[in-house]
Amino acid sequence: MCCSAETRRLFFALDPNDAVRNAIVAVQREMNLPARRVVPENLHVTLAFLGEVDAGRIDELRTMAAGLSFPACRMQLDRNGCFPRTGVAWLGCSEPPEALTAFQALLNTRLAEAGFRSESKTWVPHLTLYRKMRKPCGRIPIEAVEWRIDGFSLMRSTPGPAGPVYTTLSRWQTAV
Ligand code: 2AM
Repeated sequence: MCCSAETRRLFFALDPNDAVRNAIVAVQREMNLPARRVVPENLHVTLAFLGEVDAGRIDELRTMAAGLSFPACRMQLDRNGCFPRTGVAWLGCSEPPEALTAFQALLNTRLAEAGFRSESKTWVPHLTLYRKMRKPCGRIPIEAVEWRIDGFSLMRSTPGPAGPVYTTLSRWQTAV
């Protein structure tokens, strides 16, 4: 159930650098849940899920994203939990930076204005750590991970034999 040759499955995301990714993997190991672990290279926070997009519109997305100013911020990854409906165990934060929440809302407004799929629900920033949880987990005590976020990416998802493979199509960084 994937894509035709003319479409790409796309999403905008926050992607951790190697040090933060390693710290997140340590938390994931510590949680040690009986479910499918998300591989380190796939760990991300989704800002907007676009679904299948006409490949001819990718440059339009790039132009739109390049026109947004990304706010450098810090996110304290200090909470975990489970979305029982989707069987996902996640790592998130109790106090998302306001500037980041505003950026996510603006990105989704711009996507909606341009006719792309967008999120209108309140954003709950999270990294999916495990999928296919058979039963919900409660909170597990963890050591918080501090993440200095300095940019966002347009990602492509393609199916692979061991699950989705994510590729960065473009990345935009905070101006310094
Ligand atoms: P999540 O794991 O943070 O929920 C790339 O496919 C990413 O987009 C997934 O990791 C998932 O992020 C999000 N995603 C996938 N399908 C989605 C859907 N139907 N609606 C919203 N987000 C989706």
